[in-house]
Amino acid sequence: MSRNVLQGRRILLCVAGSIAAYKAVSLLRALVRDGAEVSVVVTPSAARFVAPLTFETLSGRPVRQHLFADAEPMPHLRATEEADLVLVAPATANCLAKCALGLADDLLSTLLLAARCPIVMAPAMDGDMWDHPALVSHVWTLRDRGVVVLEPEEGSLASGLVGKGRLPAEHVVLEAVMACLARRRDWAGQRVLVSAGPTREPLDAVRFITNASSGKMGYAVAEAAAQRGAEVVLVSGPTALASPPNVTSVSVLTAEEMWHALDARFSWATVLVMTAAVGDFRPRHPCSGKIKKHEWNGAPLDLERTPDILESLSRKRTHQVLVGFAAESGDLLANGRKKLRQKDLDLVVINRVTGAQSACGSDTNEAIFLPRHGQAIQVERLPKRLLADRLLDTVREYGVMPLPSPARPQNKEIRRIQ
Ligand code: CTP
Repeated sequence: MSRNVLQGRRILLCVAGSIAAYKAVSLLRALVRDGAEVSVVVTPSAARFVAPLTFETLSGRPVRQHLFADAEPMPHLRATEEADLVLVAPATANCLAKCALGLADDLLSTLLLAARCPIVMAPAMDGDMWDHPALVSHVWTLRDRGVVVLEPEEGSLASGLVGKGRLPAEHVVLEAVMACLARRRDWAGQRVLVSAGPTREPLDAVRFITNASSGKMGYAVAEAAAQRGAEVVLVSGPTALASPPNVTSVSVLTAEEMWHALDARFSWATVLVMTAAVGDFRPRHPCSGKIKKHEWNGAPLDLERTPDILESLSRKRTHQVLVGFAAESGDLLANGRKKLRQKDLDLVVINRVTGAQSACGSDTNEAIFLPRHGQAIQVERLPKRLLADRLLDTVREYGVMPLPSPARPQNKEIRRIQ
């Protein structure tokens, strides 16, 4: 990747208290050499390994150390509001844990909570600490949230042991920073309509037919697209999730409502990502009251088909890129191909929905991306937030990304999803 990406970019380099703190000096020099404007934060422990004066001299800027510094009120906000990216190198076990839990008891942890720009963390610690179940779970949490946590390197450690735990090599950290910056606004100008979650098809006032979708994948796609600069409208069935930041959320219950909500915004969208697990059947005559059990005579439910939203929008398409999801068992690829053709999509994401690998409800997912033009891409199991970024990368690569048109959403109402 061209190092030009770093030119003029504002990077907040945070150095935590590990012996690898000395390597942050070389990292700082490399970033400055390639044109980045780097500000540095050191923790009190890091300051015991490397004098802040070293960072101050090489960055040409004052180094921040404390949350309650006299000279500058609210340094956590000042530091992050001017940053294009936060790089934590080295990131200690303590720093990863605090960030995962959202603790804020010093300058570094507080600014990580305040940061709205991408965060890259380069861990360094002893191998046993990296492998500890607590840390493994913190790293998953962070990655799921979209934080780029790099893998430490194998090699000789400060403890004298050999194993995994060394700060990743400088070129690996720089590559990750550059990739993150390059992605940063690459969806700017796109208007992305995302559907998520299950639908509920009422049988009576208290009973309904639904499915096991948690909505996590759709929310992750909405969040990723918004973070990468797109305008995003998320149309969601009932989930337990909070609306992602900078996303306009519209809540619906039934397939019919979802259809209307998407249809009304379709002409506005440049890209539709249809992750919703839309119910395929609904009771033909739902009862407005509660059906008493003695009223049921054992007759099977009288069901009818719901509209196929994606297929109907596909027929109306003018310029939109269409991404569908395929919930499959059996021959995943053959079934996915059929849906790609049948619904005339640009890309279909094939998920297995049976057995231990099932995508339903899980925080992670493995998938096959099947673009209309090009080979199927097998994507390894990833947190859904990372999978969302991979999906957006692939859509950019294989979808013809349309130019924005002046149309605006017809409904600007923002509602929080229950
Ligand atoms: N979909 C839709 N409207 C429906 C059903 C599905 O828009 N009534 C969309 C889903 O959001 C998904 C794609 O179509 O993007 C495929 O959904 P899936 O449940 O995998 O397949 P179906 O089309 O329902 O077909 P089948 O049940 O035969 O697998």
